[in-house]
Amino acid sequence: MMLVSATEMINKAHEGHYAIGAFNINNMEWIKAILLGCEAKKSPVILGVSEGAAKYMCGYKNAVDMVKNIMDFYNITVPVAIHLDHGSYEGAKKAIEAGFTSVMFDGSHYPIEENIEKSKELIELAHSKGISIECEVGGIGGEEDGVISSGEVADPAECKAVSDLGVDFLAAGIGNIHGKYPENWAGLNFDVLAEIQKVTEGKPLVLHGGSGIPQEMVKEAIVLGVSKVNINTECQLVFADATRKYIEDGKDLTNKGWDPRKLLKPGAEAIQKLVEDYVTDFLGSANKA
Ligand code: 13P
Repeated sequence: MMLVSATEMINKAHEGHYAIGAFNINNMEWIKAILLGCEAKKSPVILGVSEGAAKYMCGYKNAVDMVKNIMDFYNITVPVAIHLDHGSYEGAKKAIEAGFTSVMFDGSHYPIEENIEKSKELIELAHSKGISIECEVGGIGGEEDGVISSGEVADPAECKAVSDLGVDFLAAGIGNIHGKYPENWAGLNFDVLAEIQKVTEGKPLVLHGGSGIPQEMVKEAIVLGVSKVNINTECQLVFADATRKYIEDGKDLTNKGWDPRKLLKPGAEAIQKLVEDYVTDFLGSANKA
């Protein structure tokens, strides 16, 4: 299978009232685990790459090539998009050039007029290359690669303005935050989500900060028009927990347990299991490939 734009899988999810997982990747272990998990469950998938992760993986081009080669090696048959997560104006252009099949332009920190102007230009560029594009209105709370936002709730009128530019899917802050949710989190603002879905006349919406949002809340968000859910922290946490357990159990000390292929295996297996469970129980995208 070749890498595909995310438009078709997301539009189908929106019509079918389920959502596609956008799991962030960091390295070969992450790519393998997420692809194998989605192949096992026959779920389409989006692999999210932040600008920081692209740098860590030695550039956009290497990220694209790694994903393509790993898909070939495992005969992956489910639709896969490689998507720039929270791209800057310059980063989006570079990722498009390097062969990404989907990009997000996060102009939420610009004044709305500038966000609209830059979004418009990048939407035209992405569509001229046949790739999908996501834009953002209203910040997502928490911290993502050094970009800190207070997690405002998006203004539906601004959402409509960006939606009308022809963006394929729209990220709008509704009280969601990146990273772990605090004990006293107020939850998602479903009234605003419903209003955004209404004024954008059924634009597929994106829920960032998926890690730690309870299953029932994710399902309610999908009913109200969310068709893409981003998950990053959750994969990092299960990887770290499984690796810590391996070391605390002393398994790195005997039987060549220090071999990196053995040392990184429990963490990678934990990511694969998380992805399999998440697409099945939270997103409903299993068997939709
Ligand atoms: P989490 O790290 O909270 O899952 O958020 C991921 C995300 O939204 C990436 O854009």
